[in-house]
Amino acid sequence: MAEDAVLGFLEKNEEISDSGEFAAEHGIDHNDIVNIVKSLHGFRLVDAQDIKREKWVLTDEGKIYAAAGSPEVQLFSAIPPEGISREELQRKVDPSVYKIGCSQAMKNKWVEMGKQLVSRKVQNVDDKVKDLLLKIQDGEAIEQDDIEALKKRKLIAPQIWKGYSVRKGPNYAPKRKKVATDLTRENLQRGDWKELEFKEYNFSAKGQPTEGGHLHPLLKVRQQLKMIFLQMGFEEMPTNNFVESSFWNFDVLFQPQQHPARDSHDTFFLQAPSTTKTLPEDYVERVKRVHEFGGYGSRGYGYDWKREEANKNLLRTHTTAVSSRMLYLLAQKPFAPKKYFSIDRVFRNEAVDRTHLAEFHQIEGLVCDRGLTLGDLIGVLHDFFSRLGMSKLRFKPAYNPYTEPSMEIFSYHEGFKKWVEIGNSGMFRPEMLLPMGLPEDVRVIAWGLSLERPTMILYGIDNIRDLFGHKVDLGLIKKNPICRLGID
Ligand code: PHE
Repeated sequence: MAEDAVLGFLEKNEEISDSGEFAAEHGIDHNDIVNIVKSLHGFRLVDAQDIKREKWVLTDEGKIYAAAGSPEVQLFSAIPPEGISREELQRKVDPSVYKIGCSQAMKNKWVEMGKQLVSRKVQNVDDKVKDLLLKIQDGEAIEQDDIEALKKRKLIAPQIWKGYSVRKGPNYAPKRKKVATDLTRENLQRGDWKELEFKEYNFSAKGQPTEGGHLHPLLKVRQQLKMIFLQMGFEEMPTNNFVESSFWNFDVLFQPQQHPARDSHDTFFLQAPSTTKTLPEDYVERVKRVHEFGGYGSRGYGYDWKREEANKNLLRTHTTAVSSRMLYLLAQKPFAPKKYFSIDRVFRNEAVDRTHLAEFHQIEGLVCDRGLTLGDLIGVLHDFFSRLGMSKLRFKPAYNPYTEPSMEIFSYHEGFKKWVEIGNSGMFRPEMLLPMGLPEDVRVIAWGLSLERPTMILYGIDNIRDLFGHKVDLGLIKKNPICRLGID
């Protein structure tokens, strides 16, 4: 109806100058006219220009007086011709009507407030305020002075009114032709597709947001790292066992049983099952011996090595536990060089703060071959890290129970303008490799780093709890971009 009214009017008239007046004249809700004009404008059947007007509307207080009369008139009406005591008058009207009514009626010189008696000073009064409020409610114009007075009493407030002036558009027609949005089987069968007018494609329409899953930043960075390792010819180690025995996590790595990392303050030990069932017995014997007495040119630690300690199950504290298992397996066959990597979860009993979590991911790489040197380690690290976009590296001597020499790895961060520690590395000790049964001239170079650290740097996240755990912002996960390492 609104559509016919607009298009029909424009057929005979140049312009609808004011959609508000047009709606009132035709008895149509202005909102309906607005919606139709917007739609017709979209199809360019009409051209519409915005009109904005400041309009006055009644406040809640104004609405009350428009219905019940102004407080001054209510008060006046409550005063009988012979007058009334203040107390009685107060009892007859609302407290707010009494207060406002008295002051307005005094101002208008309608009443006299004597010490004892309140009495009328005039015979009759008109409720001008009520009349003005009703006019505003009906959209009628009133004098500027009256507007000011009502505004001052907070009975009316301005409101922006929006409407349109409307003219014919380039596609104007007295009736809108329904355009087809789809070509159906019926259209083809009936052959009416020849006559149909089709709606044009809107190539700039935004599509539906995709409902699919989203990869977590850690998974995206992990995928990139995996690609780098594979390109460098590394094989992935099986890391799908979070539970490990102390033997593989610590003992075979020549980590003494009194080492502070083996304390329950640093490591999560399992309650059930609390111990491992099987260990390779002859290898256990060689590990015990190297801890107690050394051998292979080492003096060992000279303490009483306890099997019970090695049996204890724990959540692996580093993926080097997997590397030790893999190297042991390698030693059981005729020797062949290997390059291994892993990226998976590890657990440490640590206080959680903005840079530490009790579980995180480690990236680990190792190369096992005859006659490798520290130079090979440095070379591999340069190759690996430059593929991550970190080509400026520095090394600092460090200590690990299972590597000698050991080096912390630092990279120059162009954004932070400083050297940041990015990982740890070293050459596995003979006390670790020889009891496994690897040939004497086989050396293993290895390094490890966290996955969280580079991910946080890449995604500009400064609190690890925003990246991992129950406080992660899922919106952020959905929106963040794909990751391409080493490309600026
Ligand atoms: N396992 C070490 C860590 O947890 C990393 C590392 C791996 C160091 C291999 C040297 C060699 O920090």
